[in-house]
Amino acid sequence: MIKALRGMKDFLPPQSEKFEYFVTKSSQIAKRFGFSPIETPILEETSLFKRSVGESSDIVGKEMYQFTDKGGNDVCLRPEGTAGVVRSFIENKLDRKGGVYRFYYFGPMFRYERPQKGRLREFHQFGIEVFGEESVMEDVNVIALAKEILDFFDISYTLKINSLGCKECMPSYRENLILFLKDIEDGLCEDCKRRIYTNPIRVYDCKNASCQNILHEGPRITDFLCETCDSDFQTLTKTLKELQIDYEIDKNLVRGLDYYTKTAFEFTSNELGAQNAIAGGGRYDKLVEFLGGKPTPAIGFAIGIERILELIKMPKKKREGYYFAALTSDALLDVIKEGMKKREEEKVYIEYKVKSLKAHLKSADRLNVRYCAVIGEDELKNGVIWIKDLEEKSEKFQKIGE
Ligand code: HAM
Repeated sequence: MIKALRGMKDFLPPQSEKFEYFVTKSSQIAKRFGFSPIETPILEETSLFKRSVGESSDIVGKEMYQFTDKGGNDVCLRPEGTAGVVRSFIENKLDRKGGVYRFYYFGPMFRYERPQKGRLREFHQFGIEVFGEESVMEDVNVIALAKEILDFFDISYTLKINSLGCKECMPSYRENLILFLKDIEDGLCEDCKRRIYTNPIRVYDCKNASCQNILHEGPRITDFLCETCDSDFQTLTKTLKELQIDYEIDKNLVRGLDYYTKTAFEFTSNELGAQNAIAGGGRYDKLVEFLGGKPTPAIGFAIGIERILELIKMPKKKREGYYFAALTSDALLDVIKEGMKKREEEKVYIEYKVKSLKAHLKSADRLNVRYCAVIGEDELKNGVIWIKDLEEKSEKFQKIGE
């Protein structure tokens, strides 16, 4: 038997309905916040991710679905959505037009990770990206949008925020951190030793308990922020408080992708186990320029759909639509005609098998329809359809052809 690849899964009802429900509602909320849909290809040039997510990140270093296509191009399945949206933003020259652009998207992402609960190789994200707005109020707006989505689905979470600084404050912080790390190098895991020379700030994301112990005393970017970053971070926390959006400052929050500057945030759930991040994002003010566009501030986030579906309860489904069926084969054509006509306005199931009334009522009930409409010999003679309302338990006749 051929099975789905490890770490990849199918969505069948009711999970597929939950998926659709989540994406539809989240899109509606994003639209209310002024966002428009964007679609970018699943396959992109590998260099796009190397340059944006960063060569030293685990995503690019270890987890890419990378291959050479038939034309000899080095391509890979997107591990995340931001890079493709930025590429599209530049390629379509929106950076040169100026103004503010707000996009939302959803779709599959691919990371060759070790599969476990909440961690897949093909997973789905609902993401948003904003271009052209440097005000820290947009950081508030974007966090408020994520919160609005999570609140709509009645999900409990913790919001963690941090500032990762900018090109003004990062270099002196980096220097300081490297000095500190070199001092304690012997006590670090192999990955962290390597990070000292590739991307030192990522040591704070290490899951190794002994690394975390010795890193406890390490310098933090929040103590090195330049005036602008510091004042923006203060405005961010003050405004979140004003808006009664609860948050925790997490100085260890450095995110797994290299493009972030200034605000970084994550929403976590304590109902998910080890893989508890349900959404993550932040500012990436340098990425558009770095990928060849005009300097454009940007910010966004992505929600992990599989993880969120674990936490969402679907509203109880109400009975809906019609079940049309025949009690005699002579009635089948009328059943089909009437059912098709009804479909113009309602959801209709048409049963082609001739069965007893009891059997039809049972099928209609199983399909959770509101009305069971049948035509038997007597109904045919009188030119009517017998309709039972399965919710109110009432019955009526309706003229065929009406
Ligand atoms: P990320 O934190 O790598 O950020 O992913 C966002 C969310 O995707 C995570 O919080 C998690 O819920 C989900 N996720 C990540 N990896 C997996 C996996 N292997 N299996 C299941 N779910 C997973 C980004 O991808 C950024 N592009 C977010 C962003 C948008 N930043 C700015 N704009």
